[in-house]
Amino acid sequence: MSGYKGRLTYAKGTYVEFVVAPKQDVDFGDILVVKGKNGDIFYIRAYDFKVKSRWSGLNGVGYLMSKLNQDGQVENQEELDFYLGGNHTVKIGMAEQLCYVDQQGQFLNPKTCPDFFCEVRGLSTEDHALLAEMQGDLEIGFLKTGRGELNLPVGIYGNKTITEHIGVFGTTGSGKSNLVKVLASSMLSSGQYGLLVFDVHNEYYNALSKHPEAKGRLAVYNTQPQSNYAAKLSVDFGEVEPDDVMACASFSEPQVDALYKLAAIWQERWLEYILKYDPADIVEELAGCTGQKFNTRTISKIKSVCWNLQQELNLQEMEPVIPEILQQLAAGKIVLIELKSISPVGEQALSTLLSKKLLQHYASNQNAAKDKPVLIVLEEAHRFLGKKEHANNNVFARLVSEARKFNLGMCVIDQQPRLLADKVLSQLNTLFILGLASKADRSKLESMCRKDILQQRHEIKNLDCGEMILATNYMRFAAPVKVHKFEDFLGISAGIQQSVAMPQPTFTM
Ligand SMILES: Nc1ncnc2c1ncn2[C@@H]1O[C@H](COP(=O)(O)OP(=O)(O)O)[C@@H](O)[C@H]1O
Ligand SMILES: [Mg+2]
Repeated sequence: MSGYKGRLTYAKGTYVEFVVAPKQDVDFGDILVVKGKNGDIFYIRAYDFKVKSRWSGLNGVGYLMSKLNQDGQVENQEELDFYLGGNHTVKIGMAEQLCYVDQQGQFLNPKTCPDFFCEVRGLSTEDHALLAEMQGDLEIGFLKTGRGELNLPVGIYGNKTITEHIGVFGTTGSGKSNLVKVLASSMLSSGQYGLLVFDVHNEYYNALSKHPEAKGRLAVYNTQPQSNYAAKLSVDFGEVEPDDVMACASFSEPQVDALYKLAAIWQERWLEYILKYDPADIVEELAGCTGQKFNTRTISKIKSVCWNLQQELNLQEMEPVIPEILQQLAAGKIVLIELKSISPVGEQALSTLLSKKLLQHYASNQNAAKDKPVLIVLEEAHRFLGKKEHANNNVFARLVSEARKFNLGMCVIDQQPRLLADKVLSQLNTLFILGLASKADRSKLESMCRKDILQQRHEIKNLDCGEMILATNYMRFAAPVKVHKFEDFLGISAGIQQSVAMPQPTFTM
């Protein structure tokens, strides 16, 4: 699509109109370049069209209609072509200025309009500054146009996006998992970022293991490994805290009270002892230490939840695995926690526990200079960050509001963004918006998204599988992207690593 596209015919504020050159195609959403008079360059996005002709007036239309037969069909095509041909008809593109680059190559937000009749052309590799900003260091796809994709890579800068949280939204089949695979694969190549994926369907290992860096940078854990690639994940009694147990079931007030008292009395052996002793003995111990007489049923309920947890998480006295996981993440590895064979309760407990340990590790700041930023991928995130769950201030809610201080970030994936708490949505500074079937979900994102994506409404509505709108804080505008298909990306990624180095962009906000 690069090359001459037309000429600017009107500009007011950031709005511009241009005439589309004959035989050229411009589509909704296309990003184009206007060459200014002094060597500066304006980037615009076409969002609508109108067709005008010197025949457009009532008289003209009436005259043309008179050339049709009674059924409204053309009788003499040659004659009609004569009237319509030549320069009588023009297609006018309506566009919005996105940003511009001055003669020194500096990126600026719109400050002035281009002049009348400036040339409009398609994007090409000449547009270094813009392309470098869009490419980032974690490649995800190619810039998309109305009817295809350009050979211009688009991605994100990990160090600018991870700690500012990412949202991935799309209906089932829109390409969310493929996108995570591509992102993980770019992270594997980079080695600069840790990625913790709670893999609910055990779907990522097969794909990611084909990456050339997988051997050194990919680790897989499973509580019941049935394959030789996954390491056994088990949790030591001492690693579980009362709120991990509380994340798995709803407890009454006396039950919560008893739980915390037991933890206070028995310290890091509380869970072991709850599992070991009889409810009646525990009641007696509590009464002896605190003077409070609990009901045996209260203790039985706690014991029962703890027992379930023990089965799910392989609770045992052992050399803990979690510190090893945290170390790998901090060293910039990709860690998959396979959860397919675990129940929803165990899944909840395990993801809460691991995320909490990660938060504690990063908050304690032991190795802050060396630790790499880590992104935590959470699928069907409304289960953890819905309106009700967020109000409970669970670990994920804390991560969303505090993690950026500690070099951590969340990647929240969901089919229905409207189910997430508003406080969560407003904290997501990078959005990958894939196809969303429901209008309610699209409207929710429009109202919460910091980048004004209203103008891209039409595009968002018509996104096909693997297509998305990428909106991130540091980019001046939301970009339409065709996400790489993971298999194709891996096929070409070896080549990409040696490809031309892009110049670093200069950021001026
Ligand atoms: N960018 C893409 N290019 C081509 N095919 C894709 C792309 N993204 C996804 N697909 C295909 O679409 C199907 C569904 O994708 P998936 O990532 O599993 O969707 P989701 O996780 O949103 O349900 C898969 O068969 C996948 O190969
Ligand atoms: Mg999926």
